[in-house]
Amino acid sequence: MKIGTPKEVIEGEARVAMTPDSALQLQKLGHDCVIEAGAGKAAGFSDKDYKSAGVEVVKTAAALWKAADVVAKVRPPVDAEMKRLRDGQTLISFFNPGGNETQMNAAAKKGATVVAMEMVPRISRAQKMDALSSMANIAGYRAVIEAGNNFGRFFTGQITAAGKVPPAKVLVVGAGVAGLAAIGTSTSLGAITYAFDVRPEVAEQVESMGAEFVYLDFEEEQTDGAATGGYASVSSPEFREAQLAKFRELAPEVDIVITTALIPNREAPELWTEDMVKAMKPGSVIVDLAAEKGGNCKLTVMDEKIVTDNGVTIIGYTDFPSRMAAQSSSLYATNIRHLMTDLTPDKDGVINHDMEDDVIRGATVTHAKEVTFPPPPPKVQAIAAAPKKEVAPEPTPEERKAAEVAAFKKQTMTQVGLLGVGGLLLLLVGLVAPASFMQHFIVFVLSVFVGFQVIWGVSHSLHTPLMAVTNAISSIIILGALIQIGSSSFLITLLAALAVFMAAINIFGGFLVTRRMLAMFQKS
Ligand code: NAI
Repeated sequence: MKIGTPKEVIEGEARVAMTPDSALQLQKLGHDCVIEAGAGKAAGFSDKDYKSAGVEVVKTAAALWKAADVVAKVRPPVDAEMKRLRDGQTLISFFNPGGNETQMNAAAKKGATVVAMEMVPRISRAQKMDALSSMANIAGYRAVIEAGNNFGRFFTGQITAAGKVPPAKVLVVGAGVAGLAAIGTSTSLGAITYAFDVRPEVAEQVESMGAEFVYLDFEEEQTDGAATGGYASVSSPEFREAQLAKFRELAPEVDIVITTALIPNREAPELWTEDMVKAMKPGSVIVDLAAEKGGNCKLTVMDEKIVTDNGVTIIGYTDFPSRMAAQSSSLYATNIRHLMTDLTPDKDGVINHDMEDDVIRGATVTHAKEVTFPPPPPKVQAIAAAPKKEVAPEPTPEERKAAEVAAFKKQTMTQVGLLGVGGLLLLLVGLVAPASFMQHFIVFVLSVFVGFQVIWGVSHSLHTPLMAVTNAISSIIILGALIQIGSSSFLITLLAALAVFMAAINIFGGFLVTRRMLAMFQKS
């Protein structure tokens, strides 16, 4: 089959759905690739690059649409492109099926298959095709960079000869893909980062990225993202009020607010109100990633940057991925390539549009002259839900005390029993062994016992320093063994050699493990 990518026609769109790299991979699946001249220019890929990757370059969009069996592009098709779509052709692009019924019906009527990239279900297997996530990831990163560009101070705190600079405070509202990318970028730039989301399961992810999760003093059976395909559902008015009250408290403190809160197929909820903007310090910046869906801040103007009377900059751009076109084109083209891999299971250049496959079915919005949107829920559940823990009722103080006494008794009985058995064994050995041996043997047994008790009680986080101590002990063993190794008795020489060998493994192994552990914390 021939996979073709036209130049994006929407003004300002710099992305391209095929890169020279992705074309090479597509050819490995048995497909031929074709591209419209200049399609990759704005993203930094020249026609020459494509030609070197074995891609045919055609002059016009008309020629491209005519030549290609599968057209892969970024933005939903415009009317002129829809006219070019033909029977039997497959279109892969963002399509906005929920709000694009006319084009969807038209495509179905023509007999074209449309695969809408935003419909790829959020299940583990489909992550590599999830273009919404790969684009949101870029948007989150770029939102922080854009905020920094409009913010007059450093992100990180500094103490310089010229004075002390406090760190910037960043609040990220909505910790989905874009939010998490923003949190990662903001913390790595050194800002104090706060994040809020209605899904409680993201708190751990937020904290593991070095940000502080903003908890509300509110009891609500919060939504489980797994049950709603990895997305949040609408929260109650009381919850929203509690959330707004918290934001009102934070508004005078934070310097940068990045809002990414969204529930699919709905207008963006208003979370950063006018009075919060007014309460912010002059010079503060708001980046509203939800601008396209009406914005999380109602003062946001879509596709524009405005400055309020009190000096707060509000950025409502909706083209963040396009502002990093080389990166976003690479990721998007890789998403398309993975989708093509699923569509070409035998790698023979023949497309098998398997409507039984969860991912292909989910993303296909028209097929075989029919509108197939909305798809049935995927058979596989979205992002694994954390199993609900059975919460045991809190014990009363009496019950707790009784349980502690019982545990103590049990432990004491076990220890007394073990000591009894140990003592009996020692006695039996003492009956046959010479007195000089017994003296050393008792010291040995006691040190094994004490060592075991000490090491068993050490918490995992202290295992690295513990290894340093064991290295010291191993060195003592090696010294002792070296003194004995020259002995006339073969048995003693053998035991000393074994001791040197095993202690050396412990020392060098310890160094290797420590090195690996340190490497895990080193920034590359
Ligand atoms: P996502 O669905 O992964 O994340 C949205 C997050 O918002 C979820 O974690 C959800 O739980 C949370 N949320 C929903 N309601 C909330 C509320 N009331 N309070 C707090 N959190 C709430 O979405 P993703 O992919 O991270 O995208 C985020 C936004 O960025 C979307 O609006 C998307 O359209 C937009 N976007 C904007 C781009 C641009 O150039 N401006 C580019 C890419 C995405």
